Amino acid sequence: MLPQFYAWETGFYRAPTLEERLACGQQIALHLQQVVDQHQQQPGAGDIVDLLLAAEVDGERLSAEEVQGIAYLLFLAGIDTVASMLSFTVLHLARNPDQYAQLHQNPEAIGDSVDEFLRLNAFISLNRICEQDIELEDVLIKAGDNVVIPSAITSRDPQVFGTPDTFDPDRSRGEQNRHHAFGAGAHKCIGLHLAKLEVRVVLEEFCRRASAVSLSPDRKIKGHGGTTMGLDALPVDIKWTTQ
Ligand code: HEM
Repeated sequence: MLPQFYAWETGFYRAPTLEERLACGQQIALHLQQVVDQHQQQPGAGDIVDLLLAAEVDGERLSAEEVQGIAYLLFLAGIDTVASMLSFTVLHLARNPDQYAQLHQNPEAIGDSVDEFLRLNAFISLNRICEQDIELEDVLIKAGDNVVIPSAITSRDPQVFGTPDTFDPDRSRGEQNRHHAFGAGAHKCIGLHLAKLEVRVVLEEFCRRASAVSLSPDRKIKGHGGTTMGLDALPVDIKWTTQ
């Protein structure tokens, strides 16, 4: 159902009107409610919904509504994010043909490059509501203020990363793991290992099949901003390998 899921999810985040966005959210919720109902009636699929329905927290089973809520969060957090990440990565490689050639020739280096692609293209800003008045670096943040932490900026902090704007997959382990592409603290992305695996597998397959990728000169890249930035159109020319 990926095309349908992708349409609902992009509609939820970016349809032109609020009504359309809400309608997409309702369709996702309805679908997931049906999935959870089916699993309750017929357990045994061995998938994540089965696991959640059987899970206990402090000795109590999760309710169907709680399982639907978790499924809803996973649905909204896991599809658009990886697609955005892949599009920013392909954009980076199309703009840097030497780096693409290196990965194409040494695909075993792809795994170590994934974190660096994430660091350079961190596209999610974290949002928090301040609980109590606090002064930080002479700035008063009041209780109730919405604080936005743009990981695109914190992931290029020169106090943390040497040559922060340069793609360098050989960064020290300490630097590699300090980017904020997946957030930080208690709510750090729970899907980060799956996300990195997905990006690695797609890049490995892409590098195996394409010997070069470049931006199409006469067509425009389109993107969107917001809490989760992304690309809507990325016209590239690909030179496929003959195998
Ligand atoms: C490259 C892809 C991804 C990126 C860049 C990303 C990024 C993030 C970020 C920045 C947060 C923290 C948000 C905050 O603190 O406000 C987050 C949370 C989360 N992510 Fe991801 N994510 C990705 C893929 C995934 C995938 C594949 C899944 C699951 C299938 C997932 C599930 C979640 C969930 C459930 C949370 C909420 C965790 C919590 O609140 O405790 N993410 N993600």
